[in-house]
Amino acid sequence: YAAVVAKEFNSVTIENHLKMNAIRPCDTCWNYTLADSVVNWCLRNKKRVHGHTLLWHESFPKWLKKYNSKQDSAFVENVLKEHVMKTVKRYKGKIASWDVANEVIADKSTELRQSFWLTILGPNFLSRIIQYAKEADPDVKIFYNDYGQEYDYVKIEGIDKLLATLKFQNIKIDGIGFQMHTCIQSPSLDSIKNAIMHFAKQGYLIHISELDVPNYPKDGNKTMTDSMLRLQSERYKNIAAIYALVPQKQRFGITTWNLSDKDSWIRTYMKDELQKPLLFDEQYKRKPAYYGFREGLKISLKK
Ligand code: G3I
Repeated sequence: YAAVVAKEFNSVTIENHLKMNAIRPCDTCWNYTLADSVVNWCLRNKKRVHGHTLLWHESFPKWLKKYNSKQDSAFVENVLKEHVMKTVKRYKGKIASWDVANEVIADKSTELRQSFWLTILGPNFLSRIIQYAKEADPDVKIFYNDYGQEYDYVKIEGIDKLLATLKFQNIKIDGIGFQMHTCIQSPSLDSIKNAIMHFAKQGYLIHISELDVPNYPKDGNKTMTDSMLRLQSERYKNIAAIYALVPQKQRFGITTWNLSDKDSWIRTYMKDELQKPLLFDEQYKRKPAYYGFREGLKISLKK
């Protein structure tokens, strides 16, 4: 695993170790051991590290649950502030960009997602996280990361609305993360292109932050035949080619979510064990997807 990362990639996003539930397993403990070891490996191997993520409703530390009344808001705010400042400061000079928040927009709506943070801290919690992060490291690049922009125009409107609110408060976001957990068959390439260019035209850095391409066929048969693997390769190529339309100085990069098919969150977390969504197979050998993606990237490099 490490040899492939060392050889093939120049940037790493740590999948889970920097999430709040990993760093704050209990109210009196902090655990940076695993994150430190991966960050240090990355730096030794000259990889850029992108921070993921300071806040996500799914990586919520269970022990915080009991502080769920409005009277707890000052305490909870302080927990969040301490988490953001301590974490960003710890990796200052090592992690230069962060997904400050992940998925705070509700599905099929332009409103903020219902969450513990929204209920206890009110709608401006994101502005304050950004301020805390900037206070800890004034040079840090701030990303808003979400899924579904490429297939759901309402999500785009929701993000636009959030960005407008932040702008009104004089708070700057540097980049947008498109998770891009996509699929061989859908959405259309036009839909992907429009979503990416919508934010590129506004001048944001664009990070395809969690790319993978599983196969969700309408007939339910997920077996990856050779012809499916070829289509997957085309899909990777086309996504990289779309990315080439983003002006070069706004291309933050493309990150795949996990390394080999064996490691994919779709197999472990989603328990969908037939999927082969990535660039490397179970033996860490390059797949047709790898070569397709590389073709697409060559287009980016020419522009
Ligand atoms: O490592 C432990 C293992 O020791 C334990 O026995 C097992 C039993 O539950 O859990 C293992 O940890 C799991 C971990 O994945 C590693 O497999 C956690 O329970 C599980 O919650 C965790 O899931 C992660 C998920 O986020 C939730 O944090 C996935 O790996 C990770 O790929 C996924 O990533 C998210 C992005 O952060 C945000 N965008 C969506 C993406 C996919 O859901």
